[in-house]
Amino acid sequence: MTDTYTQFVSSGPGRKVARKIGLPQPVILRRHKPGQPLVPGPILIEGSTEGADALASTLLSWDLDVRRHAVPKERLGAVILVLDELTHPDGLEKPVLTAATSLRDLAPNARVITLSRHPGSAPDAATAAARQGVDGLLRSLAMELRSGATGNGILLADGVSTTSPSTLAALRFLLSGKSAFVDGQFITVGSPAGKLPDDVEKPLAGKVAVVTGAARGIGAAIARTLHRDGATVLAVDVPAAGDHLAEVANEVHGTALQLDITREDAGQKIIDHAVSRYGHLDIVIHNAGITRDKLLANMDHNRWASVLAVNIAAQLRINEALLASEHFRSSPRIVSVASTSGIAGNRGQTNYAASKAGVTGMVRATAPLLEPHGGTINAVAPGFIETEMTRRVPLVRREVGRRLNSLRQGGQPVDVAEAIAFLASDAAGGISGQVLRVCGQNMVGA
Ligand SMILES: NC(=O)c1ccc[n+]([C@@H]2O[C@H](COP(=O)([O-])OP(=O)(O)OC[C@H]3O[C@@H](n4cnc5c(N)ncnc54)[C@H](O)[C@@H]3O)[C@@H](O)[C@H]2O)c1
Repeated sequence: MTDTYTQFVSSGPGRKVARKIGLPQPVILRRHKPGQPLVPGPILIEGSTEGADALASTLLSWDLDVRRHAVPKERLGAVILVLDELTHPDGLEKPVLTAATSLRDLAPNARVITLSRHPGSAPDAATAAARQGVDGLLRSLAMELRSGATGNGILLADGVSTTSPSTLAALRFLLSGKSAFVDGQFITVGSPAGKLPDDVEKPLAGKVAVVTGAARGIGAAIARTLHRDGATVLAVDVPAAGDHLAEVANEVHGTALQLDITREDAGQKIIDHAVSRYGHLDIVIHNAGITRDKLLANMDHNRWASVLAVNIAAQLRINEALLASEHFRSSPRIVSVASTSGIAGNRGQTNYAASKAGVTGMVRATAPLLEPHGGTINAVAPGFIETEMTRRVPLVRREVGRRLNSLRQGGQPVDVAEAIAFLASDAAGGISGQVLRVCGQNMVGA
């Protein structure tokens, strides 16, 4: 799907016109290509704690170009602000204002990332205030960045360090082009669990992954991305989408399963198919979803019930089957596709937003049930993504939806897929029960 306006203003004359008359100026975002550098320039690590030093050593061992002090006028690929020992809001000023002097030197599509402690476990009010302060700081800073640069944060729980596996995995994801449309967000690393991959280009090697709604749109992008990362993909969609489903399954050298996920026995069918073909099942991506928009005053049974049935009830039932299965016990991963509509609400989408908010509730409540098996469950909440679903939105609403975020454009299906692949990896084993927005810092529900 193309965004003609973004392409127009990315050209020399288009850029000039947009600047002159004050139109939004989106840039073509840096997206991951295998083998490309992780960041578009050196990484400056700001902060004088032991955690900052340990992180710098690890990033140097990855052969990255790391600076502990800014070099005047050097174009930076990223600034990492380590704030892991804050005990009072007064402690913010020095590291933050030091980092601020480098912001004008960021390369296009650079990254600013904060590493700080989760406010929930703060021992006193001053520490909690300082930690929570990072939230407001980062979200505001992300809105000030330009030229495709993004700002995101990593929150460390007690017992998690700046070099725990999932901290490093989150950092690698956020630095890379894989997080192009993730902006103004926080990822909480809740435990030191997780294992870094032997091959960073194949983090899902040996895994068997199910993707529902895989025949097109975001689901097809997820199937391709999991395959790229080394997984064997079992693509699921309704029988009516059988031809497209077969095309996607062939493309990713996987198998197709024609199945309506609202069937009572859908979970068992998925497990049986995976086990009979591959002997195990490691990853389930609940992507299939539908919209049937109407103002609540005009809502009818069919619109309400069909959306709730596909978007949440089917996932609950499939998860029950997965949790009961002995074939889903080896560090399993579930990632569900929610929506920013479920966080902020959206006019005409009471049914859809109820189902997608329900996904958040499901993820939080299911996380502890998977923990004994080293498993995790998370959700990804897309904002405006360029797909068939959003192509059907009337032109003016579509154009507003696209531009109302810090990156001034819609995301691509691959942006959602990259976040899902990250959460599905072994390295993300310390991240569970969370919702990660992939929305370019959409103003809706920001
Ligand atoms: N496109 C966006 O901007 C956006 C934003 C937020 C969330 N989402 C969510 O992302 C997911 C994918 O969206 P998309 O834009 O790719 O949608 P899409 O309509 O292009 O694709 C959805 C796929 O799900 C399949 N599906 C529907 N009902 C099914 C069922 N009962 N059983 C099996 N498969 C079924 C469809 O056949 C289709 O192939 C959905 O959950 C959607 O709610 C999309």
